[in-house]
Amino acid sequence: MNEWPKIELEDTVGDVLRKTMRGHRLDLQALERATNIATPSLESWLAERAFPNADEAARLAAALGMDARRFQQRAAGAWYPGEVATPRVRRHAQRPHPSNGYIAYSSAEGGSAALVDPAGDPEVLLAQLRERRIDLEYILITHKHDDHCDAAGAVATAYPDARIVMHEIDAPAIGALAKRALPVRKGERLAFGATAIASLPTPGHTDGSSCFLIDDLLFTGDTLFAGSVGGCFGDRFGYADLLASIRRELFTLPDDTAVFPGHGPPTRVGWERNENPFFLDKESAR
Ligand SMILES: [Fe+2]
Repeated sequence: MNEWPKIELEDTVGDVLRKTMRGHRLDLQALERATNIATPSLESWLAERAFPNADEAARLAAALGMDARRFQQRAAGAWYPGEVATPRVRRHAQRPHPSNGYIAYSSAEGGSAALVDPAGDPEVLLAQLRERRIDLEYILITHKHDDHCDAAGAVATAYPDARIVMHEIDAPAIGALAKRALPVRKGERLAFGATAIASLPTPGHTDGSSCFLIDDLLFTGDTLFAGSVGGCFGDRFGYADLLASIRRELFTLPDDTAVFPGHGPPTRVGWERNENPFFLDKESAR
């Protein structure tokens, strides 16, 4: 089985528009006023029946805090991340969910294993873990949504010694298991084979959304996607917090850090810092 099929980008250009409109609390009428572009045109772009020209894309980008060049590139369908593959990360689908689950190894030779986001049909997931004879040391949970943690109970029962790591704000989603979960604390490093897992709190998609960094491998859940960011579903934190989390915790990592998101294809920190339309060319200069 090819574990790295060419996966569609999680968000289309219409999705990017919708997320930035929601993030800036602009409805169609407000966006029409801000850009002087008529609502029917905006609607046709949201529905992807048509796409803005360069001038229109620039006006949209200015109103929505996007980078005009990057947005135009997306509108032209001209961006997809380069190749990212490592023997230390295996991806699996989480049917019936459309999300990505991962097994991360502590070294290229194998060693200790961590499951990132236990979700989907538990029997399928457990069969994969058994087939690979994985000695699961950690269950890392990026956030509370079902498509990232609804198999936590089944996996925790099958691997009672595995340590669960999940931010305490989101942990009630795994019920009684929350008591077993190690909290996510910024700067905390958990021993993992000869290396360590660093927890990065990145609130915004949900209040307890977290990313996990193992050497140069970054698991971003629904915080950062290739060419996009997650939607905002938190009570305390919102769109500005999501972008700030990404800038502060993720874009400060080395450019070649491999990014494994909860949906869509893998990417790298540098590609996102330099091409993601939610961030600006002028801020990516180091
Ligand atoms: Fe989510």
